[in-house]
Amino acid sequence: METLPFENAVEETKDEVVGWRRFLHENPEVSFHEKETARFVYEKLESFGGLELSRPTRTSVMARLLGGKPGNTVALRADIDALPITEENSFEFASKRPGAMHACGHDGHTAMLLGVAKILSSMKEDISGEVRFIFQHAEELMPGGAEEMVENGVMDGVDAVIGIHLWASLPTGTIGLAYGPMMGSPDVFRITIKGSGGHAAMAYKTVDSIAVGSQVVTNLQHVVSRNISPMENAVLSVTRFEGGTTHNVIPGSVEMEGTVRTLDPEVRKQMPELMERVIKGVTEAHGASHDLEYNFGYRPVINDDGVTRVVEETAKDTFGDDAIELQRPTMGGEDFSAYQQKTPGTFIWVGAGNEEKGIVHPHHHPRFTFDEDAIPIGMRMHLEAAVRLL
Ligand code: NI
Repeated sequence: METLPFENAVEETKDEVVGWRRFLHENPEVSFHEKETARFVYEKLESFGGLELSRPTRTSVMARLLGGKPGNTVALRADIDALPITEENSFEFASKRPGAMHACGHDGHTAMLLGVAKILSSMKEDISGEVRFIFQHAEELMPGGAEEMVENGVMDGVDAVIGIHLWASLPTGTIGLAYGPMMGSPDVFRITIKGSGGHAAMAYKTVDSIAVGSQVVTNLQHVVSRNISPMENAVLSVTRFEGGTTHNVIPGSVEMEGTVRTLDPEVRKQMPELMERVIKGVTEAHGASHDLEYNFGYRPVINDDGVTRVVEETAKDTFGDDAIELQRPTMGGEDFSAYQQKTPGTFIWVGAGNEEKGIVHPHHHPRFTFDEDAIPIGMRMHLEAAVRLL
């Protein structure tokens, strides 16, 4: 294995990268609207020289670095979008745009990958194979940007793909890795229960959609607890229940929404049918009827063992054995899974929480931020892993 002097390069570049992160943080754009962000990324990449640039979609950017020696093709992915949240932080680079905020660290991902592209483009002749930099739009909004990127060919000819997420639940200095399933598939459903409304004092003359709907919510819990093996993982949450207008009228219908999270594609496939059976049974028993709308979201993130092993060894050699924390899966969703359908890959948590600095708010919180000391760690991780996989 060749070694390249990444430690110094990262040290020299990191202040500039922090500057880019702060600029992006101040100027957030929500999913599918990342026009200026993509332009910023494109212009920076162009200024490094030696990269072949393209725009796979309206608000995304891809850069190819064709090294001077033969080798594999490795893709590194950053998501670039912000969330529709009004920021409550008061630091000087807080969002200038009410209703938009980088509350998940994607500003950091974008800046880090730009830094990595800058460093690698200056070492072009020493690189074996191709490094592909993927600046993806719309991670936060289904159907997600990754699927579109894949459809537009960004994974063609790629041998391995890596995604990094700065992760505030892990302290700075920690690298979180997982073999196999890492994140769930965030599927969503909407249910309408149709009864027939009437006077609340003469409920026997109605089909009470609220009473039936409540039974549906309760019975849906049996799908996970009694139809799915305890060795498998699934969560079913009803998160919205709406109906009625006042105290003396039984409404004709109620509507609910919710999410199903699973890790196993087989379990995932069964869920709509299991739900349909329960909803149908409960509503028919009470003379009501129903509608179930079920939409599959991102696929589960399932990491490739081979790529993960290389990344684990790289992380141990770079940061020491103690930095590595093997993770249990979470039920959060990530459209990184779209790339993994095409190419073996792994998703990496780079710890970015820091209690001493007061960096304690969770992702998607209006006071979220991450520890900028994690930026050089994330850059190193990208660089070292890419070179090993080439
Ligand atoms: Ni995120």
